[in-house]
Amino acid sequence: MFDFDKEIDRSNTMSLKWDKYKGQDVLPMWVADTDFRSPECVIEALGKRVEHGIFGYSRPSPRLIELIVNRLAERYGWQIDPSWLVFLPGVVPGLNLACRAWTAPGRGVITPKPVYYPFLLAPGINDRPLLNVPMVEQDGRWVLDLEELELQAAGADLLLLCHPHNPGGTAFTRDELLAIQAIAERHDLVVCSDEIHCDLILDKNVRHLPYGAISPEAADRCAVMMAPSKTFNIAGLCCSFAVIPNERLRFRLQQAMRGICADVNLLGFVAAEAAYEGGDSWLEAQLDYLRGNLALIEEAVARWPGVNLARHQATYLAWIDVAALGLDNPIAFFEQAGVGLSPGAQFGNGQFVRLNFGCTRATLREALDRMERAILAHQG
Ligand SMILES: Cc1ncc(COP(=O)(O)O)c(C=O)c1O
Repeated sequence: MFDFDKEIDRSNTMSLKWDKYKGQDVLPMWVADTDFRSPECVIEALGKRVEHGIFGYSRPSPRLIELIVNRLAERYGWQIDPSWLVFLPGVVPGLNLACRAWTAPGRGVITPKPVYYPFLLAPGINDRPLLNVPMVEQDGRWVLDLEELELQAAGADLLLLCHPHNPGGTAFTRDELLAIQAIAERHDLVVCSDEIHCDLILDKNVRHLPYGAISPEAADRCAVMMAPSKTFNIAGLCCSFAVIPNERLRFRLQQAMRGICADVNLLGFVAAEAAYEGGDSWLEAQLDYLRGNLALIEEAVARWPGVNLARHQATYLAWIDVAALGLDNPIAFFEQAGVGLSPGAQFGNGQFVRLNFGCTRATLREALDRMERAILAHQG
């Protein structure tokens, strides 16, 4: 019914991912969008709206708001009030606004490390000290070092959480979130939980749990940021939202947005509504396809001596430890082999590379073959 094997030429489509290696024989497996066509319902809704021909200022429809409220309740067990929603043109602007809105001058912003690199940049952009808490491998999963979090929390006003974690692939458990919340409570931290990858849980034994759903106390000190962008491959349409139960926090964010934060793009609203209305069977099929891709990566990594991938539960981004290969520049090495990965250094650990497997199985197979040949040749 859905054909994720179909190769679609993305050259000359203003694609950041594909333009990077234009004219070179390098498969782009870096920035986080997929090579899959969005669900037909999204494409149809956009076509219809474009046909209307008038693209003035816009606002979310009551139906979109209803769909989000229902989705959070049904899919994630979180009952929210529509008034808690704040629409944003992106989650990254949301992270930066969080630094502005919820911290005092001189007070730190905590992020995990490694983490999606805009987390590492947001505190500095907003003139706040960046405080890092390491992700540590525990029972094969990347989790936050809670002792370090407790130490850092004393100097901070805000924790930027990434759940599920990019690049580590961890979906945090209720107990893990409750432990973070206990620290946030003791040190009066606001928790901004970036849950943009929440629909992309690959581990069939795991259900995503929004930070705000773990307890009323957690809800009262958090913002949860979500979007249909990764889920339905519509990141270029720039529609995201924050769920902020606490009225004072919500007001402060809205104040910080005034005059500098763009409205959501009309077509972003249209795509979001269509995706949430009718895209979930496509999503389930995509998840199965991604599980197949992940299995292929796990098999390949198991063949590569010393190379490691921790238990990967969510996202289409694999965080691969290549320290054992002893490469000076892992990215240049794999580019030379014809595969364009994201540098681990950007996320906070240069011994890793991040591989985006939101692509056709054939592309992934070719990329893994190229990587394997290069690794074996390097190891002589
Ligand atoms: C954890 C995380 N947050 C945010 C984003 C980007 O969000 P946006 O495009 O809505 O700014 C990404 C994209 O890769 C991401 O992985």
